[in-house]
Amino acid sequence: MVVYEVTVFTGNSVNSTTFNNVFIKLVGTDGESNRKWLMSLKGASSFVRGAVSSFTVSCSTSLGKLVLIELDKQPLPLFPNDAWFCDKVEVKSPEGDTYNFPIYRWITDSKVYRFKDGKALRVFEDNHHLGRYSRQQELNQREEDFRWDVYVEGMPHSMKAENPLSLPCEVRFSFTKTTEFLYTASMGLTELKLKGLDNCKKKWDDIDSIRRVFCCKTTAISGYVQDHWKEDAFFGYQFLNGVNPMLIQRCTALPSNFPVTDDMVFPHGRCSLADEMKKGNIFLCDYKRLDGLNTNTINGKKQYLMAPLVLLHKASDDKLMPIAIQLKQTPSDDNPIFLPTDSEYDWLIAKIFVRSADFNEHQLNVHLLRTHLLAEVFAVSLLRNVPMVHPLYKLLKPYTRYTLQINYLARNLLISETGAFTQFAASGGEGMITALKRSVSSITYSSLCMPDDIAERGLEVVPNFYYRDDGVKAWNIIHRFVEGIFSYYYKTDGEVQQDSELQKWILDIFEHGFLSQAGTGIPQRFTCVTELVKFVTMVIFTCSVQHAAVNAGQYDYGGWMPNTPISLQLPPPTTKGTTSEATMLATFPDVNVTVQGMAVMWLLSKQSSDFVPLGQYPEDHFTEEIPRKIIKHFQRKLEDLSRAIKARNKCLEVPYTYMDPAEVENSVAI
Ligand code: FE2
Repeated sequence: MVVYEVTVFTGNSVNSTTFNNVFIKLVGTDGESNRKWLMSLKGASSFVRGAVSSFTVSCSTSLGKLVLIELDKQPLPLFPNDAWFCDKVEVKSPEGDTYNFPIYRWITDSKVYRFKDGKALRVFEDNHHLGRYSRQQELNQREEDFRWDVYVEGMPHSMKAENPLSLPCEVRFSFTKTTEFLYTASMGLTELKLKGLDNCKKKWDDIDSIRRVFCCKTTAISGYVQDHWKEDAFFGYQFLNGVNPMLIQRCTALPSNFPVTDDMVFPHGRCSLADEMKKGNIFLCDYKRLDGLNTNTINGKKQYLMAPLVLLHKASDDKLMPIAIQLKQTPSDDNPIFLPTDSEYDWLIAKIFVRSADFNEHQLNVHLLRTHLLAEVFAVSLLRNVPMVHPLYKLLKPYTRYTLQINYLARNLLISETGAFTQFAASGGEGMITALKRSVSSITYSSLCMPDDIAERGLEVVPNFYYRDDGVKAWNIIHRFVEGIFSYYYKTDGEVQQDSELQKWILDIFEHGFLSQAGTGIPQRFTCVTELVKFVTMVIFTCSVQHAAVNAGQYDYGGWMPNTPISLQLPPPTTKGTTSEATMLATFPDVNVTVQGMAVMWLLSKQSSDFVPLGQYPEDHFTEEIPRKIIKHFQRKLEDLSRAIKARNKCLEVPYTYMDPAEVENSVAI
């Protein structure tokens, strides 16, 4: 007779407890145990939240090397079949070996579930017939549980779900996250003391009225924004370090539809555009994707959204200053090029139209499409094609947390027919879908890989560009981490090529995420380890650091409406010299539109209390020594970066905190 010591770890999150009877069967290379009821002196409390309970399983002879365990739980008569969250099971064999079986999932029914030992196994080395069988069973089940859906033709595909409760338990919000999210979503207006204003369809009478509403909820940065929003230097700064650092590029030749002359921008003749372009001092932001969109009608009034061109100059004090703005794409007499030398309100209103265009471009392209929707594609493809025992699953699972549910909610609460964005943003409705489709066709692989993107936009040496400085460092740390993990598991390029699960993962992403567009440069298959490492780095970066960069500052920069109006209700001036403060106030969105925008940005900028920072893994999917050491090293490097960013920020007038690893959430979760 031989004895196996079994330790079961129940999860620590709310509602993890089961009072059902739990059974286990051990399966090894030389045989299997009987199905054993796990009973201990703890009785009914063996599987309560946070419990670590030990049991023994006796067998007549050794089972050899353990391959997997089978777990099931059965309700007692008259008791319900409750949901149990099991973290892991550890088994000590009579030979003295310890096996770890990561589980980290809900078991809600009475079915038998199989879990493999934590040592990662690629498909071609999974030699035991039961191991192979359970691998296939797991994938068959996942293909059923995680199905692709088409939300809108021409957009990346999404996860099929009728409602949040129809999502598989393992990808749903925790109890804590659900409670907090629903609270902020329903109470946002109250919390911001805006209740009652959401029905007020009036225009703003004066800037002080906006100030009185805004002062109820400010952050350190939103207060700064309120004080500095009119300044040119701050307007320029936001193209580098605001919530949308993705549009600006170095300008080496003026676009033909933007006929700016030297006289306009350098009236004293001290420099010329050609010389400044040669020196790399001229930058362009072109919102051409917004051109000609059908705009919303809000409170019965037609809304206005421009597709501006903005020219910026790096001044001698290294500040990026706007020097010319044309609000529509086609040059004409009624489409003036606005200049800092124009009247105060001509220039300010031109900048306000740019900020409003930026809100729409940022939310649809930079935030929703390029982080949320892509993260969902990466996650669904992983969950459909890659089993738990695969190193890619172990690596990427933490970066998928809550993404499917938050995207379901975004589709239903923000961009559905009655969604907040559809109702209150200038591009809400048909324009939004057109803008999203145009954005899809602009996606390239290189634009998703930060170092390549920065190089393509010619931004390598722009001073005071913290998005780039922090982002490239974070990219490099993630890249070295992924390289460490994959060079441990894949010794040759041939192993990558023959890993059918890895190949199915990337092919599904190519087909469902990038709609089989080879022109995007997205790989359709992996031919070598280097290619795999780069792609997985991009996935982790996009889900964590990039999303944080474009998400976390939404209230900071958007809470003070004049800096980021979500819609505008007068057309821009067609001639210079006709505007005043009254024109600006009449152009701003109505009170209800303003406060709805504030409430949404507040909700989306809020960190939940069960937030997991970048590189932290509450779940131990990797159980082998070398990957665990690589993870520790990764965490140390992230801590170093966090310290360096905090030290740098102490010297900045406006701290840039969004890519500090301690503030970055692992996944797209809000
Ligand atoms: Fe987000």
